[in-house]
Parts: sequence; C-alpha cells; structure tokens
Amino acid sequence: MVSCGAALPLLRGDRDVLHVFDRNTSALFPRLPEGSVVLAPGEDSKNWAGAEAILSAAFDRGMARDSLFIAVGGGMVCDLTAFAASVFMRGARLRLLPTTLLAMVDASFGGKTAINFGGCKNLVGTFYPAESITLSTAFLRSLPRRELLCGLAEIVKYAMLGDAVLYEDLRKRGEGFFPPEGGLGDEAFLLDVLWRTLEVKARFVREDPEEQGPRAYLNLGHTFGHGLEAATGFGRFTHGEAVAWGMMRALRAGRRLGITGERYAQEATAFLKALGFPEKVRGVLAADILRAMEKDKKKKQGEIRFVLQRGPCDNLTQSLDPAFVAEIVEDGLECNV
Ligand SMILES: NC(=O)c1ccc[n+]([C@@H]2O[C@H](COP(=O)([O-])OP(=O)(O)OC[C@H]3O[C@@H](n4cnc5c(N)ncnc54)[C@H](O)[C@@H]3O)[C@@H](O)[C@H]2O)c1
Repeated sequence: MVSCGAALPLLRGDRDVLHVFDRNTSALFPRLPEGSVVLAPGEDSKNWAGAEAILSAAFDRGMARDSLFIAVGGGMVCDLTAFAASVFMRGARLRLLPTTLLAMVDASFGGKTAINFGGCKNLVGTFYPAESITLSTAFLRSLPRRELLCGLAEIVKYAMLGDAVLYEDLRKRGEGFFPPEGGLGDEAFLLDVLWRTLEVKARFVREDPEEQGPRAYLNLGHTFGHGLEAATGFGRFTHGEAVAWGMMRALRAGRRLGITGERYAQEATAFLKALGFPEKVRGVLAADILRAMEKDKKKKQGEIRFVLQRGPCDNLTQSLDPAFVAEIVEDGLECNV
C-alpha cells in the first residue's frame, strides 16, 4: 500500500519496531525512537556490515518474525533495511518512509532489495515488497537540488517508458520543474507527477514482479549509467545523472541502428540536457565504463541486453555488438583523459 501522509506518528518507539536512518535523515527529527540504527550516509553503508548492524540491532532487541523494520531514508537506507528485513528470520515486516525523490518514485516501490558487493552495485539482494510505503513531500524540502534532479531523471525515464502524456507535461514544464533558485516549485504538480510516475511503475511491476519480461524495460539507461557510476567510483555522479547519461546513450544507439525515431531521439535528448544532465562527460575512460558494464548483473547467457525505444512508450530489449557499444560510450565522452 502506498499512502501519502504525515510521517511522524510512525516514529513511536516500541520494542517490536526497529527504525533505520542515516545521519542526514535522523537529523530531520527532533528525537529518534530508542534503539534506532543510524548509519553513515552514502553507498559505503550499503553492504554486509550495514546489513549486519541492522540485523544485530534487531537481534539485541529480541525482535521476532512479526516485528517491524521501518526505513526512514533515501534509496540506500530503504534498499539496505529491506534487505535486512527480508532475511531476518526468513522475512520480518517492513515499512518504508522514503525521504528522497529517487526513493519515492523508484527505490522504495517494486520490492527490490539490495546491498553492493565486490565493487558491484546491488549485486546481492532479494525481492521483498514492503507492506506499506508512506510518501510525504515535506521530506523533500530539505533535499539539495542535485538530489531532486536525480529523482527527476527517473521520473522522466518512467514517463518515456510508460506515459506519453506525462512525458509531454514534463517537457512543457521544461527546466523550470524545480526552480534554479531552490525549493520544490509547484508542489501540487509535483505530487500529481509522483502519483502518475508510481502508476507507471506499478503497471510494469504488476505485470512482471520478478523481472522476467517487460519490467526489464525499467532499466532504460541503467546499463550505460551503472557503467559510468562504477567507473567513477559511485561518488562523482548521482544515480540520476548517470541514468540520464545512459538514456541519452540508449537514444543514440537506437538512432544509429535506425530503431529510434530521429525526432524523438533529438527531442528527448534536448529535454534531458535542458534539465541540466550532461550528454557528454569528461575525466573517465571508455575502457573503465565498458569493463564495469561487462559485470552487469542483467546479463543473459553472457550477453548484456540493452533497453532501446522506437518512440515514447514503444520499448524493446536487444543485445548489442561490443564494438558498437564501445563506440556509443566513446561518443558520450568529452575530451577524454
Ligand atoms: N530498489 C530499487 O528498485 C532501487 C531503484 C533505484 C535506486 N535504488 C538505490 O537507491 C540508492 C540511491 O537512492 P538515493 O538517491 O535516495 O540515495 P541516498 O539514500 O544515498 O540519499 C542521497 C543523499 O540524500 C540524503 N538525504 C536523504 N533524504 C534526505 C532529506 N529528506 N533531506 C536531506 N538529505 C537527505 C542522504 O543522507 C544521502 O546523503 C542507490 O543505492 C540505488 O541502488 C534502488
């Protein structure tokens, strides 16, 4: 169940409930429920040690299978807490309070849990949907603009994949979606966009909960994007910036193969650039990106499948020749080192 509402009442202390925050999300509350786990922010916490910290706290509290884990944070806290909840006594109760735009539209919804492993993002994980997700745009007021744009990249992706009207509405709003001077802009529009985005994701997830078929389309831009994130140590680009770059790579690949319509490829690329996402990045080697893409967990029988589009909401997956992929990656680099 996804609901919109005040988050604070959920933060009551209870021995049967374990709250998990990172330092930034814990700072959003005047006080925390007793025994809460507070992790260091960032991907470095999303590993076995982070999961162990949560599991140990649950064990020390004497929690049981019907006990409740509550994640209060961005995608990192949500993914990690959900992973820990999914393996605690083979599955405890789980609620998510996503506090970033990315976590609201993407990470919290759809049941994927994960930790990073062996230098690869989300390599170890489970499918474990939360029993409830509470969205509150109030959380977004403290989020830096760069993190808001990170979530916006995923919103644009969902619109491109599954809602042509939303895609047009976003394009009309253009770079003014989040005002450059800061703030959330038109909050009523933002809330409407959140629901419409979740509706698109819900459709894909309902149709294919374990990603055996069309849910794989939701990886548009992610194979290229994960390659860029991994090659730059998961710190230089936000997930959204990397995915936006990846979507522009996918549009370029589709265009070169005669699959993607020229007008759509140009228009979608121009829109992503207008939002501030770079089409070309510098200071990273194509070879490093390609090596990282090789490790991609979405490989099928040794081949990486790429999500391409003929046009808005007209999606397909295709394996691509490695030399062609290398050309497409090179084309997304500027004055390389
Ligand atoms: N499970 C899925 O389907 C799925 C989908 C997409 C992404 N993800 C995962 O989500 C993660 C990225 O999510 P993210 O971008 O939310 O990262 P994040 O959780 O690291 O949050 C980004 C930063 O914002 C801070 N923050 C969070 N909420 C805040 C608030 N309200 N105000 C101020 N600062 C706040 C965090 O402390 C952190 O520093 C990655 O680990 C990615 O793999 C998972």
